[in-house]
Amino acid sequence: MPEVRLDPWGRPDIKDYSRLYEVFGIRPFREVAEKMKSMGIEQSLLMRRGIVFGHRDFDSLLDFYKRGEKVAVMTGFVPSGGFHFGHLLTGKQLVYFQNLGFKVFVGIADAEAYAVRHIKRKEAIRIGVEEYIANLLAIGLDERKTEFYFQTSRKGSYHSLIQLFGSKITSSEFESIYGEITPGKIVSALTQAADILHPQLDEYGGYKMVLVPVGADQDPHLRLTRDLAERMKGEVELRPPSSIYHRLMRGLDGGKMSSSRPETTIFLNEPLEVARKKFMSSLTGGRNTAEEQRRLGGEPEKCPVFDFYIYQLIEDDNKLNDVYKRCKGGKLLCGECKAMGFSMIREFLEEHQRKLEASREVAWSIVEAPKF
Ligand code: TRP
Ligand code: SF4
Repeated sequence: MPEVRLDPWGRPDIKDYSRLYEVFGIRPFREVAEKMKSMGIEQSLLMRRGIVFGHRDFDSLLDFYKRGEKVAVMTGFVPSGGFHFGHLLTGKQLVYFQNLGFKVFVGIADAEAYAVRHIKRKEAIRIGVEEYIANLLAIGLDERKTEFYFQTSRKGSYHSLIQLFGSKITSSEFESIYGEITPGKIVSALTQAADILHPQLDEYGGYKMVLVPVGADQDPHLRLTRDLAERMKGEVELRPPSSIYHRLMRGLDGGKMSSSRPETTIFLNEPLEVARKKFMSSLTGGRNTAEEQRRLGGEPEKCPVFDFYIYQLIEDDNKLNDVYKRCKGGKLLCGECKAMGFSMIREFLEEHQRKLEASREVAWSIVEAPKF
């Protein structure tokens, strides 16, 4: 079998998600859908549509939840650029679990931004607060039920974990997970393990089961974290985390969506006119001419605009199906379709940007920003 490695720092384009089941032991999410139903928990939009496609130990997490034990959801964001529709996807999952009663932990991965992405400290701190925390508040994370922190200024035993983890892994194990590795990446990976595991410590609330919703590219970090948790046995009891994996939205140019290539996405604080231009010039699954499209139909499965619909813009399944059918049947042309999509984006952004205005100040007041 050829070697398969996910690179969490390279943002891989994952072509074949089913390989992840065989190679890494991620379980198909649909296995747990039934259990959720029997517990009376409604799946999120992303679960229902198969965008959340895989999990580890989500069934045990549900058992904990069922028994009424304290559960938490935790994720981290690298403050290297603006908050865009890709981040919104993760943000919405946090809101979903918050509404189910989970405590939310959000780590601003400023150590990783510095060590791996070479972002200036001042900039990372500003982006962490004004982009990530402010946007997450604006989409509905309740600051009373969420703990926001920066990796470099987290107080307490969090840092002890990072230091102790260093002795639990060899460099060849590291290399087999990550390939080529630098000291910056080692520290970032151990820090991420502490992000994921520290909510279990009593001093942070003693949440014995922690769920991590991430893009599939982050799974190497989860494998490392699970191993470290096992290896700390006898020193401190840490349970391997549960995780769920979502597919990554396609960028507007058909490639990867990334804040380092602003033309591939729409930022949530973007002037509407800029957002409109980008969206209207997106690649589509359309044909070369209108005539051809009427005759052959479009290809929504290849279309970044349709990704916006499935992932976020159209919540009503019937309505989504209708757009799909009209596209496939050549009844809907891309110009009209994009105009419809942008009117949905506009409606969302106008309201969101009003909220964002108000949440910026709150954001600064609820997090301890690093001193340097
Ligand atoms: N490495 C993650 C990314 O590139 C960010 C991150 C830091 C994270 N700590 C985390 C994700 C903890 C999940 C859990 O996006
Ligand atoms: Fe994409 Fe819409 Fe064009 Fe279909 S009609 S290919 S969904 S832009």
